[in-house]
Amino acid sequence: MINVMEETYQDFLGEMGEDAFLEPYRAACRSVEEKLNRINATYSRKKGRNLICQMTYRIKTPESCLDKVIKKKCAVKRQTVQERLNDIAGIRVVCNFLDDIYQLVEILKKDEELQIITIKDYVKNPKKSGYQSLHVIVLVPVERAERKKVEIQIRTRAMNFWAVMEHYLVYKRQKGQREILWLPAIFRAFSCHIKNREDLHSENSHDFGRTDKRKNCI
Ligand code: GTP
Ligand code: MG
Repeated sequence: MINVMEETYQDFLGEMGEDAFLEPYRAACRSVEEKLNRINATYSRKKGRNLICQMTYRIKTPESCLDKVIKKKCAVKRQTVQERLNDIAGIRVVCNFLDDIYQLVEILKKDEELQIITIKDYVKNPKKSGYQSLHVIVLVPVERAERKKVEIQIRTRAMNFWAVMEHYLVYKRQKGQREILWLPAIFRAFSCHIKNREDLHSENSHDFGRTDKRKNCI
């Protein structure tokens, strides 16, 4: 039984690593990246400053796709991965100001080429861990293939610093890496601090309907 499963997993990993599977996702990422560069250039011409200060993209590894379908308890198949995973292709966008996140989302909403599937606002409603970021899942047209989903994570520099550190130390801690029990509480407190500062220093002091949870913060 174990051997049959291992064979299935090996076949799956092989398929996920094929260029035929990955290339349309890479193309979707490149297309969104070009779009975001154009948006930034237009914004910069008009306002004299950048809307986006950093951008990176990545394609999920076959191993990570396998972990996720197992975690989601769905079939270990290429089609399931395409249907159920939103983040095979992911772009991370870092902005200077809190307001910039929402300005960028408004611009993306107006883009006729992109089809927005969902917007998850973990800036307004941070996750229990303290994670803050705004996720936009879009469907992107790709040449000679079906539209592909891309997860665009948009956050400020401070939110990004938090997420990168927490990702490494808590969220995706490696097997064998020692668990530090007090770390999650420290990260939650750090996240609250970031939220308070970003609210105060929001460039235009706009209230985007963010609930004021400052009283609950450490
Ligand atoms: P995943 O299965 O983790 O991708 O979650 P999901 O499919 O329910 O989507 P969700 O919007 O919760 O998270 C998507 C992505 O956001 C993750 O793959 C991470 O990159 C990031 N993320 C979500 N929660 C956390 C967190 O608590 N800490 C950190 N560092 N990153 C997070
Ligand atoms: Mg992910």
